[in-house]
Amino acid sequence: MPLLEVSALSIHFGGVKAVQDVSFNIDAGVVYAVIGPNGAGKTTLFNLITGVYRPTHGDIRMDGETIAGRSPEALARRGVARTFQNLQVCMNMSALENVMVGAHLRLDRNLLKAALRFPSLARRDIELREEAAELMRFVGLADYLAARADAMPYGALKRLEIARALAMRPRLLFLDEPAAGLNPSETLEVDALVRRIADSGVTVVLIEHDMKMVMNLSDRILVLDYGRKLAEGSAAEVRRNPDVIAAYLGAHA
Ligand SMILES: Nc1ncnc2c1ncn2[C@@H]1O[C@H](COP(=O)(O)OP(=O)(O)OP(=O)(O)O)[C@@H](O)[C@H]1O
Ligand SMILES: [Mg+2]
Repeated sequence: MPLLEVSALSIHFGGVKAVQDVSFNIDAGVVYAVIGPNGAGKTTLFNLITGVYRPTHGDIRMDGETIAGRSPEALARRGVARTFQNLQVCMNMSALENVMVGAHLRLDRNLLKAALRFPSLARRDIELREEAAELMRFVGLADYLAARADAMPYGALKRLEIARALAMRPRLLFLDEPAAGLNPSETLEVDALVRRIADSGVTVVLIEHDMKMVMNLSDRILVLDYGRKLAEGSAAEVRRNPDVIAAYLGAHA
């Protein structure tokens, strides 16, 4: 059974059919890319799957069970985490606290249990801090362990968001343009980071305009155009698909 099954998914905003009759499956363990021109519906698709929007039509199943319309919090507990196309970092908190927010999202339901189990919440706080620090090192932010978020450069904030998502211990991680606005060497670092995340056993779904990164990382690629599925397949299949070349890749070649 696929980890995620999306069937005939649609959402309409008034007259705008942002996602229209889109179906695909994602197997556990893959890196899955969603590509397409600006306005194709990529972020809207993420918003549907991660519980921000409720679909107008269609279904989304995880482990065979429908998750369409579930709240982002409920999905987080099932192992769905994401980053945002436009940074959503709390600038008045430290870098470490931003990552700890992810851990709290995962743990809040068990707060009472944890409070009973541990001698004090302070001890628990120390554990969460250590876990957050470890994730910051994992994403390459060891130099920012004591930093305030508002003192960090953009490229570091992009990785901070990834660390926060990882603090939710996801099985399924959605990354919306993790390399947008990064220079070529930062992009290579994010490319390597996504590989490390995938190698750690997390299934990664990636929206990205950087075709080199997409082709390098992806096991499978979904191409959206005007809200519809234009193509789906391996990188090699998608690259030679005439519809894709005409609608999208041609313009970038
Ligand atoms: N909440 C909303 N209300 C109305 N229209 C919306 C809403 N969200 C998205 N849209 C519209 O849906 C379409 C798809 O937008 P979306 O942000 O998903 O595109 P995208 O593929 O992520 O583009 P980009 O590459 O520029 O990020 C656009 O026409 C957008 O204006
Ligand atoms: Mg988008």
